[in-house]
Amino acid sequence: MSKTVITYGTFDMFHIGHLNLIKRLHQLGGKLIVAVSTDEFNAQKGKRTLIPYQQRYEIVEALKYVDLVIPEVSWEQKVEDIVRYEVDIFAIGDDWTGKFDFLQSHCEVQYLARTQGISSSELKLALGRLVEGHGKGVPSDLDILDGLRRSLP
Ligand code: CTP
Repeated sequence: MSKTVITYGTFDMFHIGHLNLIKRLHQLGGKLIVAVSTDEFNAQKGKRTLIPYQQRYEIVEALKYVDLVIPEVSWEQKVEDIVRYEVDIFAIGDDWTGKFDFLQSHCEVQYLARTQGISSSELKLALGRLVEGHGKGVPSDLDILDGLRRSLP
């Protein structure tokens, strides 16, 4: 029988680590729900994104692996979402290992290995270095981009 899977995240500057995770989540079940953190919720977490919520939402919604996108507005909504959408599996990257074990009384909980060498934070840092180095020649824009490419699987 087809399973419903849910995950939560910010998905700023959508990158290959996000795509790999979403593909694997899709393979886990039949229906994938992605809760995208709103700008207001990120502000509560002290996190600021480059890409605003509406655009992050639309990018995730356009993926063929994703069946439904909902806003993530609080830490507390997970149990309510799991009950409302009859979720079978809660899954998230393994940077969160152990943090959501308390959901096991409601559904299966899985932590999936992250893609190495890339994150929104690292992209922001690389972008900063790119802008800083622009026109100064050290390090060149191409060196930075090559470094980023080499770090990808
Ligand atoms: N993720 C992943 N592999 C990566 C980066 C993220 O599997 N290289 C997963 C996270 O574990 C999470 C989801 O993607 O389940 C959304 O993560 P998010 O925090 O939005 O992305 P990050 O790139 O980790 O952002 P940041 O650097 O701001 O933490």
